[in-house]
Amino acid sequence: MEKHFKRTTITSALPYANGPVHIGHLAGVYVPADIYARYLRLKGRECIFIGGSDEHGVPVTIRARKEGITVQEVVDRYHNLIKDSFERFGISFDIYSRTTSATHHKLASDFFRKLYDDGKFIEQVSEQFYDEQTGHFLTDRNIRGECPRCHAPEAYGDQCEKCGATLSPEELINPYNAETGNPLVKKPTKHWYLPLDKDQPWLEKWILEEHKEWRSNVYGQCKSWLDGGLRPRAVTRDLDWGIPVPVEGAEGKVLYVWFDAPIGYISNTKELCDAHPEKYGSWEKWWKDEETRLVHFIGKDNIVFHCIVFPAMLKAHGDYILPDNVPSNEFLNLEGNKISTSKNYAVWLNEYLDELPGRQDELRYVLTANAPETKDNDFTWDDFQARCNNELVAVYGNFVNRALQLTQKYYEGKVPECGELNDYDKETLSEFCDVKARLEQLLEGFKFREAQKEAMNLARIGNKYIADCEPWKVIKTDPERVKTIIYLSLQITANLAIAFEPFLPFSSKRLREMISLSPNPSPEGKGSLWEMLGRTDILPAGKQLPKPELLFTKIEDEVVAAQKKKLEDTLKANEAAAYKAAPVKPIVSFEDFEKLDIRVGIVKSCEKIKKSKKLLKFIIDDGSGKDRTILSGIAQWYEPEQLVGKSVLFIANFAPRQMMGEESQGMILSAVNYNGDLSVTTVLNPVKGGSQVG
Ligand code: 2FM
Ligand code: ZN
Repeated sequence: MEKHFKRTTITSALPYANGPVHIGHLAGVYVPADIYARYLRLKGRECIFIGGSDEHGVPVTIRARKEGITVQEVVDRYHNLIKDSFERFGISFDIYSRTTSATHHKLASDFFRKLYDDGKFIEQVSEQFYDEQTGHFLTDRNIRGECPRCHAPEAYGDQCEKCGATLSPEELINPYNAETGNPLVKKPTKHWYLPLDKDQPWLEKWILEEHKEWRSNVYGQCKSWLDGGLRPRAVTRDLDWGIPVPVEGAEGKVLYVWFDAPIGYISNTKELCDAHPEKYGSWEKWWKDEETRLVHFIGKDNIVFHCIVFPAMLKAHGDYILPDNVPSNEFLNLEGNKISTSKNYAVWLNEYLDELPGRQDELRYVLTANAPETKDNDFTWDDFQARCNNELVAVYGNFVNRALQLTQKYYEGKVPECGELNDYDKETLSEFCDVKARLEQLLEGFKFREAQKEAMNLARIGNKYIADCEPWKVIKTDPERVKTIIYLSLQITANLAIAFEPFLPFSSKRLREMISLSPNPSPEGKGSLWEMLGRTDILPAGKQLPKPELLFTKIEDEVVAAQKKKLEDTLKANEAAAYKAAPVKPIVSFEDFEKLDIRVGIVKSCEKIKKSKKLLKFIIDDGSGKDRTILSGIAQWYEPEQLVGKSVLFIANFAPRQMMGEESQGMILSAVNYNGDLSVTTVLNPVKGGSQVG
């Protein structure tokens, strides 16, 4: 039976403050969470929308080391950057705070202490890798060593990037500290564990039986964790960045980041409510009242923590509610590749906002239209452009613009009277009269992609209606009829402003201004904006509308080309950075070296060989007074004329070879770049043909 809730606590995964937010985060978590929060508010429902930065854990410490700054500087920099870009993008958090706040440190510490005092943890000593020279225990990511499978020399403690094997640090051959290179020893260390095995029975019942409505990806992942059997999980770490374990004798230990981060949702709620009690009431009603519905928006890599570990923590603490739903998305790829913060391969929100100013709704639209709700999806700039130009501009924008411009042209901006409806009008109206119910059903079911399609469908209905009715022609023969056409078109326009409000808040606001429709709640006494959805009397006849402007403009080819180039450049830079020179060949003696006669040759002529795609034919001045012919397979990299006059290096005593009916008398030397590209070697200063190299 469906439960009735009084209010909703919406949380969105706290992003690590180790880099800016990218479109993968937006599509996976923040855009859907924001749509949901905006929708509930539009409906006048009581809700809070919680965000914040996750500032503990290993990722931020790695970033600090990489950039050569302190961890505090890293989290300050990225927290501010992320907060600012969310704001500019219109993610409507009620609060965006951080896990380094005093409120959070105290709440998380108290939370741990209560579980500790209530005997909810088990203490266990285990052997962990330790760097005796620095006096640090190491996390899996900070341990490197030889891969036991493929013998790559620099596999990580959790994975070998060469062969892809999942590893544990114990398996590495000769493990060492990734940062210092010091060898590691095993040392016993005590940690506190949450005995999840004991939670297995109630978690199985709660998730597998009572939450069959969860998305199949979420339900499926939970089921496979549960089927595999839960094991105790350590909730503390040996690290010097984080919330100190509030237990005597636990010096040098902090709460595991995945223990404190979800408590951040509670801390941020507390901070919000403490600051504005008149608006939000006590923080506890948002977390401890059975009539509150808790919903976590997350990405798929966070499922186990939000569906199993955090609920087990909340239950162990007592008096907290558990999440009612955890709408988790799959991943978004970018131009066919995985998005990666560490490899700098992403569309970063802050850069998008700077480079495509005023285009927040375009990105929101495309990310929702292509949301990875049921499977991984791909973002491409071509698709972005096509959706913006063919849907937002050509359908939604075009319709609204026609309706508003014609109102100005024929009626000086006043909404005309509606005459008698003909069959086509009625048919059109019947197509969208239930739009409110359809949208609500989809939004309540977290089907944002379908819901936005529904809103766009309304624009299609409008666009078709005005195109079919051709008021610009009818005005010459039947001006009365045109009044009805424009009246209905304006009502559809008003419906669009409302239907798109949760999805495209910036353009909805502008459109509302163009039709003088007040934001929620309506001062016209018709209830909330959302309640008007589906009605055909939103804009009364005689209402004066201001001069309209274009709702959307086209994304030009140059913009897309520049963005694509940026990504390609990153891929190239990554490839170059990953390049390692081939191992040096076995040692040769000076005598062996001397056997090779390397000389400078001046290219007198160079031409393609007709029957071959690869070969170029060189005539070389080798100082002998006679022409020397050398064939070289480098046609792919040079136009022949580029090479004429150049001083190249060649092996003069290379055994002659027959190629394509010609004799090649030597070999021209080239360097092969990391990506396989080829570059002919030349000399720096002018020297005569035939000069020896050595
Ligand atoms: O995966 C991540 O980016 C984590 N920082 C998410 C934390 S969500 C919550 F627990 F705070
Ligand atoms: Zn390997």
